[in-house]
Parts: sequence; structure tokens; C-alpha cells
Amino acid sequence: MVIKVKKKDTVVLIDIAFRKFLVDTGGKTDKIKGVGVIDPSILVGKKYGEQIEIGNKQFWVLRPSLQDKLQGLKRRAQIILPRDAAHIIMNCSVESGQKVLEAGIGSGSLTIALVTAIMPSGKIVSYDIREDFIEHAMKNLKTAKLDNYVTAKIKDITKGIEEKQLDAVVLDIPDPWNAVTHVWKALKPGGYLCSYSPLISQVEKTVKEIEKHSFIEVKTIENIQREMVVSDRGTRPSFNMLGHTGYLTFARKVL
Ligand SMILES: C[S@@+](CC[C@H](N)C(=O)[O-])C[C@H]1O[C@@H](n2cnc3c(N)ncnc32)[C@H](O)[C@@H]1O
Repeated sequence: MVIKVKKKDTVVLIDIAFRKFLVDTGGKTDKIKGVGVIDPSILVGKKYGEQIEIGNKQFWVLRPSLQDKLQGLKRRAQIILPRDAAHIIMNCSVESGQKVLEAGIGSGSLTIALVTAIMPSGKIVSYDIREDFIEHAMKNLKTAKLDNYVTAKIKDITKGIEEKQLDAVVLDIPDPWNAVTHVWKALKPGGYLCSYSPLISQVEKTVKEIEKHSFIEVKTIENIQREMVVSDRGTRPSFNMLGHTGYLTFARKVL
């Protein structure tokens, strides 16, 4: 079945070196590296999957994957990368229809991944102490057409959580240990806490606090990935590797 690009679709253009460019076909003009400014409306009517020529360069026209959307975000804070977001969703068992709270929203990267998991009937509540971050993240969510699933609040999670009976709470703040008691109270029995921290010292303080409450299945993981380069000459790990992102601590509330 052939599917054509419609006006207002967001497409990803991939060149022969697999560089990616997100383009909103309803937008005014967009810049593509090595090509310059293009009129996005030229993409309307092209077939998804076909290769087209723009400014003497070849590009495949595809729908953006979830990873493309996350990588293409305009960032102001350090974001949770897709590889860690995937582990958060799996280890917290985030599913369609659930209510999940996160703090802070930052650039909205994790938010986009969470929304994709709870759609179409769930809800994400996002706290952040900074209004400018909330505005920035909500703009990113709007671009991804996912803002309807998110309620953002200017709130300090270490001072308390209004919501009750949550399925999961994800903390990406500098002092997660100060929110643990509030998270325990806000979770439904069986609900999950996840804390993402770049430093081991943060993990130790958080786990100590978790252990003072009725949580089980407490575990901390580090997610290390090595990409393999496969060629006719042989296969080896890629020379480019992102050494460290953060540690992920998980725990499950019981009574
Ligand atoms: C590293 S960023 C979060 C990035 C986000 N998870 C993402 O993937 O884009 C940390 C955010 O936490 C917010 N923050 C820090 N302390 C907070 C607190 N106590 N309550 C709520 N938000 C907080 C900061 O303003 C900042 O926006």
C-alpha cells in the first residue's frame, strides 16, 4: 500500500550517509545541511519510503521513528536518551491507560516516550520548578503532536505530590532522595518508582531513603551500549561510544 505525505505531516529525510532531518511539511521554510533552505511543501504528495532528489542530493522520505523525535528535540536541559527511556518504560511496566508522574520535565524527552506508552487513554503529569522549562518542553510536545496527554505543573516534587493512585513516578532531579516519601504516598500499591541519576553518590542516598519505606524489587542498573560495525572486512565495535548517561534505580511499592 502506498502512503503519501500530507500537508502538516512531520517527515524525516534521511541522506545516503544516514543523516536525518526532521521537516514539518506545514512549516514555512526549513534548513537542510548541505542543501540550504527548502520549501517543505515540496514534500507533500511524495510517497513514504521513496527516495527523492533535493538540491542534487538524494533523501529517503520516511515517518520519524520515536527515536528520531527524541533526538530531534530542541534541548535546554540534559535529556534522558531513548536507550534509558526504553528501560524506564519496561521496568516500570508503563502501559496504555496508566497515569504516570515525572519530575522534572526538562526538555520533554522522557515525556514524549512516556506519552507514547500510555496513549490513547492515559495521562502524564509533569512537575518542574522552572516555568521556562515547562514552556520549552510543552513546545516540543506540541511539535510532536502529543501535548494533549500532558498536564504540566510548576511544582517542587520534594515538597509533595497532589496526585494519588499513580501507576509510576519517574524522578530526574538532582536530589531524588528528598522526594521518596511523597512518591511512596502517591503510588498505588504495586506502582513503580524510578530515579535517574548521573552520579553514584546520588544513587546511594536515594536507595538508603527507598529502604526506609515499603518498597520491594529495589535495583539499580547502568545501561551500556556498544554499536557493532558490520562490513565485508569483518565486524567490530564502533569507535564512537557514549560512555555514560545515568544510573537507573527502580523500586515497587507494597503495603
Ligand atoms: C535533567 S532535567 C530533566 C530532563 C528530562 N527528564 C528530559 O528527558 O528532557 C532536570 C529538570 O528537573 C527540574 N527540577 C529540579 N529540581 C526539581 C524539583 N525538586 N521538582 C521538580 N522539578 C525539578 C529542573 O528544573 C530541570 O528542568
